[in-house]
Amino acid sequence: MTRPVILTGDRTTGPLHIGHYAGSLKNRLSFQDSHRQFLLLADTQALTDNADDIGKVRRNVLEVALDYLAVGIDPAKTTICLQSHLPALAELSMLYLNFVTVARLERNPTIKDEIRARGFGRDIPAGFLCYPAAQAADITGFKATVVPVGEDQAPLIEQTNEIVRRINTAAGREVLPEARAVIPKAGRLPGIDGKAKMSKSGGNAIALSASPDEISAAVRAMYTDPGHLRVSDPGKVEGNVVFTYLDAFDEDQDEVARLKEHYRQGGLGDAVVKRRLEDILQALLAPIRARRAEYATDLAEVTRIVAEGTQQAREVTEATKREVMDALGVFRL
Ligand code: TRP
Repeated sequence: MTRPVILTGDRTTGPLHIGHYAGSLKNRLSFQDSHRQFLLLADTQALTDNADDIGKVRRNVLEVALDYLAVGIDPAKTTICLQSHLPALAELSMLYLNFVTVARLERNPTIKDEIRARGFGRDIPAGFLCYPAAQAADITGFKATVVPVGEDQAPLIEQTNEIVRRINTAAGREVLPEARAVIPKAGRLPGIDGKAKMSKSGGNAIALSASPDEISAAVRAMYTDPGHLRVSDPGKVEGNVVFTYLDAFDEDQDEVARLKEHYRQGGLGDAVVKRRLEDILQALLAPIRARRAEYATDLAEVTRIVAEGTQQAREVTEATKREVMDALGVFRL
């Protein structure tokens, strides 16, 4: 029996945070036994908007690998690989760019949002505009059918499938499978300040590697309901980050429902709910921090894990590239 293939990954621009954990790392952990899973350290994609800081992208390759290992990704089950060392992905990207229009790339909602957020205006790096085609190469290079990602990535999977259909039509047969995004029900985790996006650059994230003190400080600073002045006041649960995080991380959802009810009626103070959340986050992150510290003492071993995974991935992606080129009828020497 062959297991379904998963390919997913992260740009290597900074350490991963609890938003990544709730958003896709947890899903990836649950897929390790049931799927053939590849995790891509997407350093080449990170360059598409970080060409002015290549050092940052380079330094974060092993940081993200450490985060994977720290949360419990097992290299004996899941293959961790490095994008810049998989030339077949770059070759497939160039090919796919002929099967997508500039207008379609500009219409991609993820790209549109990111262009706005980065303030590119018309000065969009061409590599950035084209990265959906490269992401299609990542996914199809492994013939992945399952892609666990945060909800912001859904339009990229949709565009991947459009490219897949065009390639299959041009080839006259189904050379590539379509892929399905697996998106957590909870939706995207907001930052501790209540802003829609948790990000390291926004200074509103809790890193997976955060110290106990950093976790305490983050929970203390967390946005709640500014109208909830006295404990006896009724409080708002919607948009209250503490409750949003309890939704995402508390195992006892019945108790969360009771706490919400109490908070809405009044009589439940922020300090009490924050204490509960802090305990949960400390308990979640303590073993992750410990495992990370252990791997961090042996970076040569982490490098070896990535090199070995990349070698495996090279074989898979080379074979796919060959198959696609042949199916399309590109001259073969
Ligand atoms: N775009 C993803 C992010 O921003 C990273 C990524 C690169 C990816 N290639 C991928 C995700 C392929 C899923 C599949 O985090």
